[in-house]
Amino acid sequence: MTTKQRVLVSAMRYEAKGILSVEMVSAQDEDLAQFSAGGHIDVFFRKGLVRQYSLINDPEEKNRYQFAVLLEREGRGGSAFVHKSLRVGDVIEVSQPRNNFKLNDDADSHVFVAGGIGITPFISMAHHCRRHARPMKLYYCARAPETTAFVEQLTEIFGENTEVHYDGGDPSKSIDLTQLVAKEKGSQLYCCGPRGLMDALSDVVYRHGGSLLTEDFNPAGSKTHTENSNDGGFTIELLRSGVSVDVVPGQTIIEALQAANIEVETSCEAGVCGTCVVDYVDGEPIHNDVVLMPDEQEKSVALCVAGCNSKKLVVDL
Ligand code: FES
Repeated sequence: MTTKQRVLVSAMRYEAKGILSVEMVSAQDEDLAQFSAGGHIDVFFRKGLVRQYSLINDPEEKNRYQFAVLLEREGRGGSAFVHKSLRVGDVIEVSQPRNNFKLNDDADSHVFVAGGIGITPFISMAHHCRRHARPMKLYYCARAPETTAFVEQLTEIFGENTEVHYDGGDPSKSIDLTQLVAKEKGSQLYCCGPRGLMDALSDVVYRHGGSLLTEDFNPAGSKTHTENSNDGGFTIELLRSGVSVDVVPGQTIIEALQAANIEVETSCEAGVCGTCVVDYVDGEPIHNDVVLMPDEQEKSVALCVAGCNSKKLVVDL
């Protein structure tokens, strides 16, 4: 179980058209739990409405968290809540910070490729790299200046290593990723933004070589429900209590556990946040998440989206 923190919304500000930043301080006048560059928190707006946001302030700051939200008209309700209902003075809960998008400490230089609101994890990374004099460069792809947030702040941090690329929404004017990868050969590349940008950059890196880390806060689409190769379902066994629960076809592990009155902490329920990750000691899970690295999947599983290839999955719960 993670300990939630009570925070007070202390400031909200438009950073660009449709992009609102939210600053929060402790509601108990305490230091907030420290986060690392690229880290995020779950924000519990109200029951059933939990969203993950990258923290955009300097990780050295202990007195506040800041995140930014683009109003998505076709979104799942989190951005609309921030823009229309959340107000300065509100007290809400947030999780302990987590980080699925860490800087590669072994890299000599860091190159960040952001698309639109995907800029957010790179802001805390930039603060960190500047403090520790780590070479870095930013490619910031966006549609138009009026919808592009934090350009002034980032230009101040990155100096001449800032390239802002506006395409006006025309794919033919997109940044040349092949050229970018060739130019930045030897650097650790990072990408966060629309799925199309991340896939295109992954493809170029795959074909031309290089090292790329990506951050994806998008739910895992069709994989949000259990993929289960056992037509007849499987059994999940809880190691610590010895309790066994059947997971029937079409049911998620979380749903099966809840039906048995066993509560497991969840947040995104889409395999992207890591809240429901537990270790397993036996069985062959089908990993449908985007949060665990391949080596982590050898011992851990994100219960909210996992299926199972074996008849039984034994987890450390
Ligand atoms: Fe977010 Fe499972 S609840 S990964």
